[in-house]
Amino acid sequence: MKFFVDTADVDEIRELAATGLLDGVTTNPSLVMKAGRPFKEVIGEICRIVNGPVSAEVAATDYEGMVREGRVLAAIAENVAVKVPLTWDGLKACRTLTDAGTMVNVTLCFTAAQALLAAKAGATFISPFIGRLDDIGLDGMQLVSEIRAIYDNYEDLSTEILAASIRGPNHVKLAAIAGADIATIPPAVLKSLVKHPLTDKGLEQFVADWKKTGQTIA
Ligand code: E4P
Repeated sequence: MKFFVDTADVDEIRELAATGLLDGVTTNPSLVMKAGRPFKEVIGEICRIVNGPVSAEVAATDYEGMVREGRVLAAIAENVAVKVPLTWDGLKACRTLTDAGTMVNVTLCFTAAQALLAAKAGATFISPFIGRLDDIGLDGMQLVSEIRAIYDNYEDLSTEILAASIRGPNHVKLAAIAGADIATIPPAVLKSLVKHPLTDKGLEQFVADWKKTGQTIA
């Protein structure tokens, strides 16, 4: 499973990239607003830090506008994945941009039928929003399972499932079990994945006991 980080905060991205465990980045207009920096400049900087796909979302909602903006974003760096919303215009823009060799992430996916449409439109990634479905009392992970089952039925569908709107470590685990290809994870959740009190306690004990041996390894 690939790990993307869901943020436009360059410092967070640099810190997580240093772990060697980061495969890509996703941003969205809300995250760009939070970062408070010029959009294209930030995307360029992120693309220089991370080699994998960096999702940059169009602001337009009409086909022509999305394609025009998508081309501008794709020109920033080879690893930009243009993000378009799951609407008819977005799907049309997805087809045009992927035909031109641009990676496209179709976002705001809330049903398996929408995910099927995105795959047929040639999407590189489909982003089912798990947390936002859970928030309204539905089962976000069920959606990931359904998309996995559908995509596995058809060899010609090569769209990768990018589990998004992840709220905690359990979502990451369950998305992996459900067969998501990628999870895009907020920085705080990504950092929390390593934590377990028994790991800390066990390490403390090993360090203390090793000291008592009086030995060194190197
Ligand atoms: C995905 O690409 C989105 O940026 C993101 O996962 C949305 O998550 P949210 O529901 O926490 O805003």
